[in-house]
Amino acid sequence: MNVLLIGAGGREHALAWSLAASPLIGKLYCAPGNGGIAEVAECVALDVGRHTDIIAFCHAKRIDFVVIGPEAPLVAGLADDLSAVGIKHFGPSRAAAQLEGSKGFTKDLCRELSIPTAAYGRFSDRAAALAYLASQPVPIVVKADGLAAGKGVVVAMTREEAVAAVDACFAGAFGAAGAEVVIEEFLEGEEASFFALSDGRSALALATAQDHKRVGDGDTGPNTGGMGAYSPAPVMTPDLVERAMAEIIRPTIDGMARRGTPFKGVLYAGLMITTEGPKLIEYNARFGDPETQVLMVRLKSDLLAALLAVADGVLASFDVRWHDDAALTVVMATKGYPGAYQRGSEIRGLTQAGEVEGVEIFHSGTRRESDRILADGGRVLAVTARAPTIGEAQARAYRAVDLIDWPEGFCRRDIGWRAAGKGRVS
Ligand code: AMP
Ligand code: GLY
Repeated sequence: MNVLLIGAGGREHALAWSLAASPLIGKLYCAPGNGGIAEVAECVALDVGRHTDIIAFCHAKRIDFVVIGPEAPLVAGLADDLSAVGIKHFGPSRAAAQLEGSKGFTKDLCRELSIPTAAYGRFSDRAAALAYLASQPVPIVVKADGLAAGKGVVVAMTREEAVAAVDACFAGAFGAAGAEVVIEEFLEGEEASFFALSDGRSALALATAQDHKRVGDGDTGPNTGGMGAYSPAPVMTPDLVERAMAEIIRPTIDGMARRGTPFKGVLYAGLMITTEGPKLIEYNARFGDPETQVLMVRLKSDLLAALLAVADGVLASFDVRWHDDAALTVVMATKGYPGAYQRGSEIRGLTQAGEVEGVEIFHSGTRRESDRILADGGRVLAVTARAPTIGEAQARAYRAVDLIDWPEGFCRRDIGWRAAGKGRVS
């Protein structure tokens, strides 16, 4: 079958790498793709925001299945537009993607369904938001309601910081996404990324993972899209996986179905593992990046068959198998990220690095110029390794990182420190 994958990141490279290995695959396209995805799929320069162009492409190339990677096209209703013309796809409708598109929507759903999450208030008015702040202890968390590319969250240690964050939202720092503000209780614990496939009725937990959001070693510095990840996540014991499914994921899937907006796709719950158990920090309506990179190298089953089971509504009779090996990925980013950075520096040594045992290098932001690979984004590579233990996967990943010749790039040297029992890898 012919498949069109939407997206351009490391997540999509990992998905493309898995889809390309499926016995069911005919021709695999990716729009717009990147320099690494081009090795496993044909990249097409479609404007993902123009749904009519995507539909025309699907008809012209006889696409049987569209896999939507990022959140923006989901929130923009690409899945709905594909449904309207009968093109099978993986990814939730606009109404179901509200779980990611509006933090207030998700908080209200949690309240309605008694899903464990931080206490909160929801405001579209500055005075009311400040009055609520004044009544709450610090630290406290201030969030722009809508999609803000991971930048709309401030964990305020002081009241002044919290007020500044509220002011920034209402002053338009996040555009329309900040027209409403969610203020919530600060949760303490260890974070985990939890993924479940759902066909709208049943839900199937995937392997566990954790990412590192801060840019600096020791989990310091500003938040990023994710500087590394590993799977499995030791904190997610089988008991906690079952609690997350029973207390968070299944009630959400049931609640969305009852509302007439079933969630079909992959539900990504950002969890805080507190002393009271798992609590929901936020939902995403898509796979995580870079968590997908570690999940895909551990996946033993056919990814395409699993995504089709979701689309066909037959997930209840489906299961996925995983390699016992662990996996770890180190993100290499352009110096300056998550602030301003330059594009276009050349990356050398990728072939050698990719030959390290168990290593797969996924591209997050590169472009190919004849036979050269150039950096073309903030997060640029996800150097991923599989090995019997997290510690060995960590060693392999950094061995590969050290073979990459890219003076304009940097990475954290401690990805997996919690799970590998080893801090900086020098
Ligand atoms: P989000 O974009 O909602 O995932 O938030 C980004 C990061 O902010 C999370 O990964 C957490 O580290 C932190 N965060 C968000 N909400 C809370 C909360 N209620 N308590 C503590 N930390 C939080
Ligand atoms: N790894 C964080 C995210 O995908 O949002």
